[in-house]
Amino acid sequence: MKGVHLFALLVLASTLASASDPSHLQDFCIAINDTTNGVFVNGKFCKDPKLANPEDFFSSGLNIPGNTSNQLGSKVTLINADKIPGLNTLGISLVRVDYAPHGLNPPHTHPRATEILTVVEGTLYVGFVTSNPDNRFITKVLYPGDVFVFPIGLIHFQFNIGNTNAVAFSSLSSQNPGIITIGKAVFGSKPAINPDVLVKAFQLDKNIVNQLQSLFWPLNN
Ligand SMILES: *[C@@H]1O[C@H](CO)[C@@H](O)[C@H](O)[C@H]1NC(C)=O
Ligand SMILES: *[C@@H]1O[C@H](CO)[C@@H](O)[C@H](O)[C@H]1NC(C)=O
Repeated sequence: MKGVHLFALLVLASTLASASDPSHLQDFCIAINDTTNGVFVNGKFCKDPKLANPEDFFSSGLNIPGNTSNQLGSKVTLINADKIPGLNTLGISLVRVDYAPHGLNPPHTHPRATEILTVVEGTLYVGFVTSNPDNRFITKVLYPGDVFVFPIGLIHFQFNIGNTNAVAFSSLSSQNPGIITIGKAVFGSKPAINPDVLVKAFQLDKNIVNQLQSLFWPLNN
């Protein structure tokens, strides 16, 4: 009996020892002292569960193609906890991505989610790059029915290399995956990053940096 107690205590102790902070659900959550001025917790405030209704867990319209008439020729339709309030705290979301012929979902990263993508229509050249120092490029050409994984945080893209439209659906392992589009974040930040930083970082001529910073950097989401 004493042995059982000791075992239970050890299990409890090891559980406590391995406890860690919860994953972030947004870019940051700045601490304040006065709760009356609080806007967000890590995630969203919860509704009384007794008041839950089917609409809280529902969204529609994902059968409708996104409008790809933009510079990139792609459109991401995101269903996250903003669209389905019932997703709050559940750690999952969904996107539909439409690609015009030669449309690109440009290099980007999701700071809070791994993505698993299924091609429904078309031919996609996809890939991601691993962390330093190897920076291995892991790539594949995907056809309808093919599934590919983009691990959390890694820079990835999808490019429609076919002459027809392409469609893919992805699940992401966060209610709010976040999207950082590399080109726009680096050259289109507001306010602009000091060009000297980008000249050195990207081994570019200052004129090129100025030109890149003056461009319009479109988003497709
Ligand atoms: C929070 O309260 C403590 C104690 O009153 C104070 O020292 C601290 O500056 C406060 N922090 C903020 C961010 O207001
Ligand atoms: C798609 O977007 C373009 C550019 O914003 C716009 O001109 C066009 O009317 C849109 N098409 C549809 C079907 O909404």
